[in-house]
Amino acid sequence: MEGKDLEFAVNGERFKVNSVDPSTTLLDFLRLNTPFKSVKLGCGEGGCGACLVMLSKYDPESDQVKEHSINSCLTLLCSVNGCSITTSEGLGNTKKGFHPIHSRFAGFHASQCGFCTPGMCISLYSALSNSSGGGLTVSEAEKSIAGNLCRCTGYRPIVDACKSFAADVDIEDLGLNSFWKKGDSKEAMLKSLPPYNPKEHLVTTFPEFLKNVHNGLGYRWTTPCSVTELRTIMESANAGDSLKLVVGNTGTGYYKDDEGRFDRYVDISRVPEMLTIKRDENGIEIGASVTISNVIDALKESNFKKMAAHMEKIGNRSIRNSASIGGNLVMAQSRKFPSDIATLLLAADASVHVLNGGKIEKAKLHEFLDSPPMVDSRRVLLKVEIPAWTDDAELLFETYRAAPRSIGNALPYVSAAFFARVSHQMVDECLLAFGSYGGDRSIRATEVERFLTGKSLSYRVLHEAMGLLRGIIAPGKDTSHPEYRKALAVGFLFEFFYPLIDNNGRSNGHVDPTESLLPFLSSSQQVVESDEFHFQPVGEAVVKVGAALQASGEAVFVDDIPTLPDCLHGAFIYSTEPLAKIKSISFSGNLTPTGVFAVLTFKDVPIQGQNIGSKTVFGPGPLFADELTRCAGQRIALVVADTQKHADRAAKLAVVEYDTNNLEEPILTVEDAVKRSSFFDVHPMFYPEPVGDVLEGMQEADRKILLAEFRLGSQYFFYMEPQTALALPDEDNCVKVFSSSQAPEYVHSVIATCLGIPEHNVRVITRRVGGGFGGKAIKSMPVATACALAAHKLHRPVKIYLNRKTDMIMAGGRHPMKVTYNVGFGSDGKVTALELTMLIDAGTEPDVSPILPRNIMGPLRKYDWGALSFDVKVCKTNLPSRTAMRAPGEVQGSYIAEAIIENVASSLQMEADEVRKINLHSYDSLRKFYKHISGEAEDYTLPLLWDKLEISSEFEKRGEMVKEFNMRNVWRKRGISRVPIVHQVMQRPTPGRVSILGDGSVVVEVGGIEIGQGLWTKVKQMVAYGLGLTKCTGSDELIERIRVVQADTLGLIQGGFTAGSTTSENSCEAVRLCCVTLVERLKPTMDQMMEKSGSVTWYMLIQQAYAQSVNLSASALFTPEFSSMEYLNYGVGVSEVEVDIITGKTEILRSDIIYDCGKSLNPAVDLGQVEGAFVQGIGFFMMEEYTTDEKGLVVQQGTWDYKIPTVDTIPKQFYVEIVNTGHHKNRVLSSKASGEPPLLLAASVHCATRSAISEARKQSLSWNCNDGNRDVSGTDFELPVPATMPVVKGLCGLYSVEKYLEGKICGK
Ligand SMILES: Cc1cc2nc3c(=O)[nH]c(=O)nc-3n(C[C@H](O)[C@H](O)[C@H](O)COP(=O)(O)OP(=O)(O)OC[C@H]3O[C@@H](n4cnc5c(N)ncnc54)[C@H](O)[C@@H]3O)c2cc1C
Ligand code: FES
Ligand code: FES
Repeated sequence: MEGKDLEFAVNGERFKVNSVDPSTTLLDFLRLNTPFKSVKLGCGEGGCGACLVMLSKYDPESDQVKEHSINSCLTLLCSVNGCSITTSEGLGNTKKGFHPIHSRFAGFHASQCGFCTPGMCISLYSALSNSSGGGLTVSEAEKSIAGNLCRCTGYRPIVDACKSFAADVDIEDLGLNSFWKKGDSKEAMLKSLPPYNPKEHLVTTFPEFLKNVHNGLGYRWTTPCSVTELRTIMESANAGDSLKLVVGNTGTGYYKDDEGRFDRYVDISRVPEMLTIKRDENGIEIGASVTISNVIDALKESNFKKMAAHMEKIGNRSIRNSASIGGNLVMAQSRKFPSDIATLLLAADASVHVLNGGKIEKAKLHEFLDSPPMVDSRRVLLKVEIPAWTDDAELLFETYRAAPRSIGNALPYVSAAFFARVSHQMVDECLLAFGSYGGDRSIRATEVERFLTGKSLSYRVLHEAMGLLRGIIAPGKDTSHPEYRKALAVGFLFEFFYPLIDNNGRSNGHVDPTESLLPFLSSSQQVVESDEFHFQPVGEAVVKVGAALQASGEAVFVDDIPTLPDCLHGAFIYSTEPLAKIKSISFSGNLTPTGVFAVLTFKDVPIQGQNIGSKTVFGPGPLFADELTRCAGQRIALVVADTQKHADRAAKLAVVEYDTNNLEEPILTVEDAVKRSSFFDVHPMFYPEPVGDVLEGMQEADRKILLAEFRLGSQYFFYMEPQTALALPDEDNCVKVFSSSQAPEYVHSVIATCLGIPEHNVRVITRRVGGGFGGKAIKSMPVATACALAAHKLHRPVKIYLNRKTDMIMAGGRHPMKVTYNVGFGSDGKVTALELTMLIDAGTEPDVSPILPRNIMGPLRKYDWGALSFDVKVCKTNLPSRTAMRAPGEVQGSYIAEAIIENVASSLQMEADEVRKINLHSYDSLRKFYKHISGEAEDYTLPLLWDKLEISSEFEKRGEMVKEFNMRNVWRKRGISRVPIVHQVMQRPTPGRVSILGDGSVVVEVGGIEIGQGLWTKVKQMVAYGLGLTKCTGSDELIERIRVVQADTLGLIQGGFTAGSTTSENSCEAVRLCCVTLVERLKPTMDQMMEKSGSVTWYMLIQQAYAQSVNLSASALFTPEFSSMEYLNYGVGVSEVEVDIITGKTEILRSDIIYDCGKSLNPAVDLGQVEGAFVQGIGFFMMEEYTTDEKGLVVQQGTWDYKIPTVDTIPKQFYVEIVNTGHHKNRVLSSKASGEPPLLLAASVHCATRSAISEARKQSLSWNCNDGNRDVSGTDFELPVPATMPVVKGLCGLYSVEKYLEGKICGK
């Protein structure tokens, strides 16, 4: 911007900016030009909430400051002129003291990796500051974080932290925390919470100097203050200039290509006429620049409350705070945006006023939507008018919306709004609007309206109307799930009109008479069975190291490391072809884009090095495609530019020419791989042995299911911090790399091999990782290596911060697979033999895929199959290489077992739970299947957990209640399911070092990486315990003196992988060994001092030891005993769900989990792992579609189409118990792992859903009329993974409402 300075404040500090590219976002500015790094870039599209800040605006007329949260990744810097910004570190920090929000997040164990936490804190702060006089209610507190993504915690502890601020909270309902002890009185509990006083803690600064800042007027950014001024600007703009009107700029979250495309920006968010809301007897007029949040408030105060309620489901609160109603409508009008608002306003018969040149034109909304696109046309939408409704009983207005997450930031599959005037079942008038179904815009179903008007409603009339509607709803050819969307539209029409028929002309718009659903986390409980523990502070629920620091945003991730002025930035160009020769790489128009420095390919790898980007024991993977690309998504080149934005833009502009002549067809399915015998070798070590004689087992069977087949999909990690690395070239051919990696040792080795330099020339540093889940193990290596290569070659620091789209395209994710099986069983449900064939899609590189057969077959053996044989092929395809994602292979193996059990039960018409029970292992059969890994008989705690959960979850009683519910309700069906897990893990060699400094403080290094799983916390506890054995006076305070520091691959070698659930315990054992050495070394000094004075403090002891030159640094490499390095983990989960047959939506009403952690090293950390893993499992089983197109390119490329669970999709009642089982003598202080196994328990949700669908299908059969079996039939079906809404609806019946009416018509 040129002209006047831009002036604003961040955390009270004044910023004046003289010249800025108007496409600069607030996030860019904050991260690059201020020390405030709490604003994180998670998606850049408004979909995650990691970038939230508070915006305070001064209104001179009322002399008041208004504030709310906004997404800094979408807000343009110029639009905050005169505003004050507060980030999470502005609320509180290490220096000025943490805000109670930060302290409570820490104390409720609500931060794991910490990447989402500052954004969560801002969301809560915003809700608190906007709450009315009575303060926040529990329900508002829960909703405050709706739409914010967290991939680690499973949300429950975050909700507790939020609820602790609610005025109506029952403090006893809040979960495990560090503030109070079991048995404390309510009063004591309240007192122990970090105090919160709105007067003191809800004060964001609004500096005086900002009150006089006037709207800036520059050449490229102008802020008109009246419609007249706006008109002048529009008229005076050069005809050739591209001009953009801006309000909240949230549209760029969806239309990312808009970024940087315009010559001029006109900020219409401060035009008073466009900000007014006027209500009178004719209706309501809303200025186009009014934010959706303000529209909602205005509608709530009128009789448009249902519209307001619907609008509360748009985006999330921070989006609605800046998104304008006009921006939404213009996006719908000009760019086919699937707008809810257009649908609502069509049904309300709204009109708009448009400034067109010198004239103001009024048009009905549908005319406006049909007019030529207004973006780039210099027309301006000024206001919207909704006519008033008379308040009479005959008037009906309802809105509908089916979205993957009901209020968690998700566009709907279909939205609908219906207005009708009905007297005695006679439709006098109706307006039926539908949107988001994949048509060009929201429409009115006028043909249906005409058909219904003047008719008396009956089953036949409604049936006919629905038939007409099916013909009208025509999703475009690229729309996903077109038939589902049609079925939804029809379902909504049915929901609206049907009750009028059966209810004599009255309706509340819903078809089932059941109680309304619970709010989203209505209750939860965490039980930690405690036992006397002798290793204090090990075993205590110590708060996670650095949790408050993470909440305030001061915790430093790789991208937060201040960059040097000469730092360059890289972005990958990836292939869009699965198998092709690369002929050339250039840029669009043959112009080198702004800022580009270099484009590196495999040819830039030093002559002495190798084109290697990753390695595992199964072989290396290339850094870049050489002459041939082997999958869509493969790295072809790295563009290096002066800024990350320029690098990303340049990578987008890259044009790659391919040649597929004389090449074989790519292998894009596992079936192709079989045909072409394209497999990766699997070493016998990773290929378990069969059990028993399957032929014999099959002969014993009374019944068999043969050649049953199903498939399992992939899953993307969705770590909140994308892949990132920073490389700094150093003297003498050395390079230092900061990498967000779960395997720095391997990153190190790959870099050295790629550059052709000795390993001692490389140093890799990892402090913390913003979520990994396996995705930052192998897949972090090429990112760090490319960075190192660029830094080495260009002699400049180079950083790569992958944008979410590239990350999703290159990540590979979990292994999809096809499973075929034969199973034999007795008529009592006892399985006698199981024979499996599995085709695993491993993608193009081996990665760690050859371990999959072993990983799958581990948990799959949880049942006594009698005899078990299998043929597992790891297929090499031309798809992105798949890698280990949390519980890799294990979650599939465990699920496969359940799918088989379900199928057996269904074929015998038995309860699946009965079949499970009868096939659970005895200890003898466990030994037969797991051999020595089973451990001792008393270690086999699964039967105990199974029974215990039966009681605590009231499994039987609830099973009966589910049956009763299903009998009473037509359109909602419930299912309940109990699932056991047996999960094998393996300990691995891990190093550690403990050093005691002169002041008695202790510094600890471990091989394991802190990825949010609480490794540092457990390690710290272990060191405190280990050094506490010196028995110094006050040694119980030792924990305060210990700091675990970042991994440095030259400081501590052989760090290995942080994976497989055991790294925390391995690291703990390594430091325990170090402590044993140190205590031994200190003993003589201690004894001497004790003899002299009778008591010794830690400080005195260390002073003396230094004086005596005792070696106070000890290191150890923990190497587990071969015979006991593998062990089994057990857990059981019960889930109850409710399926809406009309929409296919599944709500998880309740989940109960019981998990055996041995003697937990830290119950708070382990509970966090259990809950977080379970919710990630819900994502895998129920929500997350991660698919590839016909060329193998990943389809889902961001938060718009990849939906991980949000707070509204977790179980409404969530009960978790970790049991404290006996002494596990071969384990680290008797503890057991918790990181991955609980993910497997989420299969209980899937199985419960299957059971509910089964009920729906049985019911549907009973409606069959003469036309036979249209749509669904029978209870024999496979429920795919993930069981998304379209999948569930498809199985419940895409024509269920029609069938139901047909049944009524034919008298059923
Ligand atoms: C994460 C996210 C989730 C969302 N979820 C939903 C949802 O569930 N349902 C839904 O309906 N919408 C949803 N939206 C869309 C959201 O409502 C729109 O992005 C928003 O309303 C646009 O308003 P804005 O002020 O930010 O517009 P801007 O981004 O500033 O502008 C959008 C476009 O409209 C033009 N424009 C703006 N105002 C005018 C005007 N008065 N006259 C002429 N042209 C104008 C601009 O030039 C630009 O081309 C979501 C958006 C995001 C980012
Ligand atoms: S980074 Fe802004 S919402 Fe994700
Ligand atoms: S703690 Fe929320 S994403 Fe890691």
